[in-house]
Amino acid sequence: MIAPPGAGKGTQAELIAARYGIAHLSSGELLRREVAAGSPIGREAAVYLERGDLVPDDLVLSVLGGPLMEAAKSGGYVLDGFPRTRAQAEEAYRMARQVSGVELQAVIHLRVRRSELRRRLLERARVEERIDDTPEVIDHRLHVYETETAPILDFYGGRGLVIDVDGEGTVDEVFDSIVAALEPLRAGLA
Ligand code: AP5
Repeated sequence: MIAPPGAGKGTQAELIAARYGIAHLSSGELLRREVAAGSPIGREAAVYLERGDLVPDDLVLSVLGGPLMEAAKSGGYVLDGFPRTRAQAEEAYRMARQVSGVELQAVIHLRVRRSELRRRLLERARVEERIDDTPEVIDHRLHVYETETAPILDFYGGRGLVIDVDGEGTVDEVFDSIVAALEPLRAGLA
């Protein structure tokens, strides 16, 4: 899933994973767990998370690599929050190739206006305590997405992999749109 902060990657990835019986792997969640545990990786990553900057690739891969290979061996996965840069996208291809039978089937892009993204994240800030949900850090995360991550949609678009979904409906409406786009791919594999 490639989409800006607040677009619904985590929400929809959870539903997709449940629907297809595959793993949901969230790079942000794995990093936040390391921070909460106070591990050496977590202490290093915390500085970037607080600022809304991208965590260096070696740290991200050290938390994601193991779960990703495991999930690949047992039926597949939906990746939420990774890749976020061209270098990570190339690494994702390399990792998938290491496990025979695994291929990237679809890149789901959720389209949501910036004003709605900010509204959702500020709303979440009222009920949850994510250190990166302050107005300044939200704006910075959106900027990082636009400059670092959005360009990789072209990389995947050129390979015909991008499924573009309107992310502004209700959670159920967005999920229905995603499933409608994924089903033909599954039928093609049968
Ligand atoms: P990450 O955890 O990936 O966060 P993010 O991209 O900022 O995304 P969010 O979790 O804020 O939003 P989301 O799109 O998942 O939407 P959600 O479903 O939660 O990354 C955090 C940080 O970790 C990064 O800034 C970076 O520092 C680091 N990091 C992570 N991966 C990295 C990588 N690969 N490389 C380097 N650094 C990395 O929904 C948001 C809110 O909206 C929720 O409250 C939800 O209930 C609500 N909502 C969802 N859908 C709807 C809807 N349809 N209508 C109304 N509300 C909705």
